[in-house]
Amino acid sequence: MDSNHGWPEPIIRVQSLSESGTETIPTRYIKPPSDRPSIEASSYTLSIPVIDLSAMSKEEMASAVSAACREWGFFQVVNHGVRPELVRHGQEIWRGFFHLPIEEKQRYANSPTTYEGYGSRLGVEKGASLDWGDYYFLHVLPSCLKNHEKWPALPPDLRDITDEYSRELLNLCGRVMEAMSFGLGLDPTRLQESFGGTEVGACLRVNYYPKCPQPELTLGLSSHSDPGGMTVLLVDNHVRGLQVRKGSDWVTVEPIRDAFILNVGDQIQSLFPFCQVLSNAIYKSVEHRVMVNAANERLSMAFFYNPKADLPLSPIRELITPDRPALYKPMSFNEYRLYIRQRGPRGKSQVESLKTSQ
Ligand code: OGA
Ligand code: NI
Repeated sequence: MDSNHGWPEPIIRVQSLSESGTETIPTRYIKPPSDRPSIEASSYTLSIPVIDLSAMSKEEMASAVSAACREWGFFQVVNHGVRPELVRHGQEIWRGFFHLPIEEKQRYANSPTTYEGYGSRLGVEKGASLDWGDYYFLHVLPSCLKNHEKWPALPPDLRDITDEYSRELLNLCGRVMEAMSFGLGLDPTRLQESFGGTEVGACLRVNYYPKCPQPELTLGLSSHSDPGGMTVLLVDNHVRGLQVRKGSDWVTVEPIRDAFILNVGDQIQSLFPFCQVLSNAIYKSVEHRVMVNAANERLSMAFFYNPKADLPLSPIRELITPDRPALYKPMSFNEYRLYIRQRGPRGKSQVESLKTSQ
């Protein structure tokens, strides 16, 4: 077998670069000046909406979620019903995985065909610019893709805790999908049905961003929008990093203990027929990126909730009118994902480039 597992060049773990104690990062990680993080330039006065789910009726939740998805494409939820102990245990157990000796992690080294396992890059373009982060990617649903053998065996409770965490997040995603649907005046189950009902997919990407000696020159994750349906992100509560696009600004998300950050992905955006002029009326899949820092490592867990992979997704019929024609051609998530994976993170250019010409 090829020792690079199908990658165009040998994989270097960012963690090993970080631990080597180097004071300068390799040029492959240096971003062009226009892409470098700019904490000063980002607005401190703006922040993504925070929604408290504990004290809300279905109607209130639908209108809060719907407004956040139109204006920001991002929001945080607190009192979401997932036990804080489970959330913290999940984070600690995955941090434990990344702190294992390199040989233990290398057993799960991933390839660009499935991405399952331990990885350090996206895209297969030779000589491409790289991001300052390692990750672990695994499938949760459908059950035929879920394979515990491809999940880390250590730390000992990782598989069980990740299973329990996934069940809770699937539940939360179901509630949010209903709110998103209801908030558009549709039947609460409509969005879920267009995703394939009970045959939805889900995967988890745990990101590990080691300390970086020159954080001002690089990014932990380059600007991208999430290709799937919706994302539930759990971040370290003491380390900032995530930035969300707002017009020409980048807004830094303030972590809230035990909260989840939710965002709309490209597949939900593609259910909307509306043209660009009416873009304030759709659920937007918004660009975001991750900054790294010199003082702290950062761990995040991105749970992706996706439509049934081979279902061609087309805009919701009830929303199509003669003056609001379908904007995207029907495409399945599998086809879309393949397209994205060949290219690596590239801002919003991917979803835009698939629009039909009208
Ligand atoms: C992602 C992502 C953000 C973060 O994994 O798609 O956007 O804070 N992660 O790690
Ligand atoms: Ni993302």
